[in-house]
Amino acid sequence: MPTSKIAGIGLYVPENTVTNEDLKKYMDTSDEWIQERTGIRERRYAHRTDETTTTMAVEASKIAIERAGITAQDIDFIVFATLSPDYYFPGCGVLVQRAMQMKEIGALDIRNQCSGFVYALSVADQFIKTGMYKNILVIGSEKHSFGLDFSTRGRNISVIFGDGAGAVVLQATEKEGQGIMSTHLHSDGQSAELLAMYNPGTHANHWVKEPVADYTEAAIGEMFMSKEMMDKAQNFPFMDGQAVFKKAIIKFPEVIIEALTKNGLSTTDINLLIPHQANLRISQFVQQKLALRNDQVFNNIQQFGNTTAASIPIALCQAWQEGKVKEGDLICLAAFGSGFTWASALIRW
Ligand code: UT7
Repeated sequence: MPTSKIAGIGLYVPENTVTNEDLKKYMDTSDEWIQERTGIRERRYAHRTDETTTTMAVEASKIAIERAGITAQDIDFIVFATLSPDYYFPGCGVLVQRAMQMKEIGALDIRNQCSGFVYALSVADQFIKTGMYKNILVIGSEKHSFGLDFSTRGRNISVIFGDGAGAVVLQATEKEGQGIMSTHLHSDGQSAELLAMYNPGTHANHWVKEPVADYTEAAIGEMFMSKEMMDKAQNFPFMDGQAVFKKAIIKFPEVIIEALTKNGLSTTDINLLIPHQANLRISQFVQQKLALRNDQVFNNIQQFGNTTAASIPIALCQAWQEGKVKEGDLICLAAFGSGFTWASALIRW
């Protein structure tokens, strides 16, 4: 049975760097608060009009495909993880297929937010293990900056997020002892509303008692984004930060240990843990809990903020570029976020 290895990896972040000082133009915040609570010094924001979740994904994908030594024509399937798609529908996968002039291959979008990339990798891994596909493009990309509340009201969320994309080519290999060893996916929908963007969404239909037949601006506005929804900031992400934090520091270590146990390994065997870059304090807590050395954990949230589905492939790519991921290394990916969903993957590089 084939296993899947990461044959090529790429990242793309927009040029525009936004520091904590820059954010003070819009909201009541400080560099000190942001660094102390999250570790973030700066993040990137995409160009308002020229860059989208898909265009960033395409740039990261080109690099991943080139590094895999193949062409876009060799890709058999696309799995795209994002919470900030270009369109409400269709998903970004088909937009990548079009932009990269690929064959009429399947394209699947994954909606698992911070865990999205690990979920996407797991899905792709199954297709490779069954022998259905040989080269799958797995992408995580986000353009958060288009939809954050930059007033003081939204400061607990808006300072955290950044834009960017990461992509890998997952490729079938027959080489013994190489590639994805296992993936572990979880969810608990009890807390779905604790980290969410509520609108536009079909749950909001209760605002309008009857189907809208007069397509006036006011009627359509009421249906998709009423004044009340906007007054409640429901067009922006909502997060109960402390509740998310408390759950994250339990579930991160749990899902990492689950992956290690499944493979008869322990924390000392990990060469590099790439945690989803949610908050530096969360990563440090996980490191401490698992008694990992500094050189066993990679963080780049200081530089790029939290890029949700893109954070793991961006961090993995940066670590690889810095020579911190070498052949034979045991790499652990772990994520936790909205849903709640959480996930891990163990990879023998
Ligand atoms: O990737 C998805 C998963 N997300 C996460 O894992 C995030 C988990 N949560 C967190 O990282 C943290 O909860 C935050 C960084 C979001 C917030 O940190 P916190 O220590 O939980 O702060 P808080 O929300 O409890 O707010 C503490 C105070 C409040 O003021 P008062 O009520 O004590 O006067 C906030 O209004 O800090 C205030 N505050 C800010 N002050 C300056 C909140 N945001 C800011 C800000 N600048 N940006």
